[in-house]
Amino acid sequence: MKFGNFPGTPPIGSAHGAEIDLLIWFIHGLMLILFVGWLAYYAFVLVKFRARKGSVASYSGARGKYTTYIEVGVAIIEGILLVGLSIPLWKANVEAFPADAESTVVEVMGRQYNWTAHYAGPDGKFGKKDEKFVTVSDPFGIDRKSEGGADDVIVVNDILVPVDKPVIFKITSQDVIHSFSLRSMRVMQDAIPGMMVPIHFVPKVIGTNTINCAQLCGPGHYSMKGVVTVVPQDQFKTWLKSKSSGGTTDYE
Ligand code: CUA
Repeated sequence: MKFGNFPGTPPIGSAHGAEIDLLIWFIHGLMLILFVGWLAYYAFVLVKFRARKGSVASYSGARGKYTTYIEVGVAIIEGILLVGLSIPLWKANVEAFPADAESTVVEVMGRQYNWTAHYAGPDGKFGKKDEKFVTVSDPFGIDRKSEGGADDVIVVNDILVPVDKPVIFKITSQDVIHSFSLRSMRVMQDAIPGMMVPIHFVPKVIGTNTINCAQLCGPGHYSMKGVVTVVPQDQFKTWLKSKSSGGTTDYE
């Protein structure tokens, strides 16, 4: 796996990863300019308004209308940037979801302290869920007798996805708030009980990727790791079939 396109960034495994790194570097660059600018201004003010004989402090502050104009101007420009640029960009990206039919759809549940994943199985159809079927080995509560439910697959901490095909992870939690962080793919999403929030990316590099829990969730938080392994597409199909023998699970 090759390292990110920018110095100091971890390896990238997804199609959109380089864009995230570019954004991070852009923001840091902007902050650096602001930091140096304000520091220079601070030094200038320290020298210009130093204590001198006969100089008296002004308690009224700056007078004149220009400062007010500048303040209002900055506020208006920031408002335009937020409403006119940031929100439309965010909306466009959030809505640019791949279709379920063309993607590998996996439900991922965080719980103290592992990542449990639910696949629709070889038929591509998720079974119905009901809380009366929830067990330790099946926190999703799949109704194995429902349509498409018999071949559903559940795995723990060991998630496989095929390369070069969009992946949709639907992130949820069984207990407290966790955070699904897949750094090499540049995706992260809080796992919130009662919600199933989808994220998507296209894996481009075959290999293993560590899932970290990025939200302090209890004494075992440090150990809440999983693996997303990216494999060739036919290997994924074989694997899914092998896991799906009549609805068995491999809870450890
Ligand atoms: Cu789950 Cu930290």
